[in-house]
Amino acid sequence: MNEPSSRFRPIFFELYESLPRQGPGNRACAARALALCRDLPPAPAVLDLGCSVGGQTLHLAELTSGSIVALDSHAPSIERLRATVAVRGLAERIQPMVGDMAAPGLPPASFDLAWSEGALYNIGIDNALRVCGGLLRAGGCLAFTDAVWLTDNPPSEVKASFEDDYPTMGRIPDVLTAIERSIPFDGLD
Ligand SMILES: C[S@@+](CC[C@H](N)C(=O)[O-])C[C@H]1O[C@@H](n2cnc3c(N)ncnc32)[C@H](O)[C@@H]1O
Repeated sequence: MNEPSSRFRPIFFELYESLPRQGPGNRACAARALALCRDLPPAPAVLDLGCSVGGQTLHLAELTSGSIVALDSHAPSIERLRATVAVRGLAERIQPMVGDMAAPGLPPASFDLAWSEGALYNIGIDNALRVCGGLLRAGGCLAFTDAVWLTDNPPSEVKASFEDDYPTMGRIPDVLTAIERSIPFDGLD
């Protein structure tokens, strides 16, 4: 692709911000992942990192009885989530917040569940796992989605297009290894 024109960014964000969600995922996938999070309290304290306009935040509000801190660095997305939360009468349960997940400024060990769909890679998976580990209470759960290569030899055009956004993107075993080396527990189930 040639150099993007000066209109690229405004047009991109106009489209991006109007979408109901900004990454892959859906309610059924969220429900399935949530069911794997064992021993959550009846009303868990949930942290949704890189929540954007809250596609999965709203699912989590339906699927749990807990409170949710929903954090994203893109202020317009948080504004939109705030408006949705107000319209749906969820202000008591969902707290949208502009912030950097690399340094969220939230109290350590204060969440039962850290959740992130398609966002942790922005600060590097190792760093993100360290941040999440520090924010979770003992026995807390982390659920996240990440882009991975499903082949050793992706087409060069596809590989090149990920070079800017996610140059360290690995395969599923790479993500599992990162989890195992970052979280002090007995191993993956
Ligand atoms: C691909 S979108 C996924 C959004 C949402 N979770 C979803 O699945 O619809 C990634 C999100 O991460 C946010 N993000 C990127 N870097 C961030 C950072 N350092 N701190 C907080 N949010 C960040 C972006 O603003 C964007 O909303």
